[in-house]
Amino acid sequence: MATIIDGRAVARQMRQKIAAEAQKLFAERGIVPGLAVVIVGDDPASHIYVRNKKRACIDVGFYSEVIELPQDTTMDELKAVVERLNRNEAVHGILVQLPLPPQLDDREIIQTIDPKKDVDAFSPVNAGRVLAGKYDFLPCTPAGIMALLKAYNIEVEGRECVVVGRSNIVGKPMALLLLEANGTVTICHSRTKNLEEHCRRADILVSAVGKPGLIRGDMVKPGAVVIDVGTTRLPDGKLVGDTVFDEVASVASYITPVSGGVGPMTITMLLQNTLTAARLQSGAK
Ligand code: GUN
Repeated sequence: MATIIDGRAVARQMRQKIAAEAQKLFAERGIVPGLAVVIVGDDPASHIYVRNKKRACIDVGFYSEVIELPQDTTMDELKAVVERLNRNEAVHGILVQLPLPPQLDDREIIQTIDPKKDVDAFSPVNAGRVLAGKYDFLPCTPAGIMALLKAYNIEVEGRECVVVGRSNIVGKPMALLLLEANGTVTICHSRTKNLEEHCRRADILVSAVGKPGLIRGDMVKPGAVVIDVGTTRLPDGKLVGDTVFDEVASVASYITPVSGGVGPMTITMLLQNTLTAARLQSGAK
């Protein structure tokens, strides 16, 4: 039976440390790290995520601002909001909650965010820095997964790592971080042939697809580490991952649950990035 990775406990510890560092930054330089979150429209799930981000900021003593814009906001209006936040010295991090309504081009909006304030690390500048291995910010979900592996002393170097999913937000940067940690990395996706075979070779298997039931027990090597990034809301309201949890937990050595696995780490890394942004903008290292 696998050890269940407790993302809430690791997140709690890290957030205590972030709160202490924020206090220190205030004591030494009078700076309170500030995060602005922009949300457009009324997608209920997005509003829950944004509320959680705001609460997390307040819990660690950050300044937090949520800007709610109507569903019919235009590109010019949204860009003007982001440009105003770029100039606001109380705001060190800017996050535009995705997805945006269809009339808005998310790539163009993300490019409007000052790279120094891009705490999602989604902008081409920051994505390029991650690719080059020299960065100030890491994308929050992959960074949170690396922090979980470290907290549980799970070695990556020399091990077979299989990432299922190739999104810009999770799959691609996840593969880069595992590579940077000297893993041997395979990326699988919807056109991959023999997904089962690839998965069965993995010492570390990360699934970030959003398809409940995708990863079954017979696709996992005995003793593998399984990280489930999938989050799918079922019609009954239950949140589930990509793995058939009971099957996979009976063969893996470690597994992340949904929820309480990767989720709490994503917001924790957002707080970490906001703290880093505040430090860099204040001239402190
Ligand atoms: N929507 C779902 N996850 C994210 C995220 O990490 N950042 C942003 N900006 N939007 C999201």
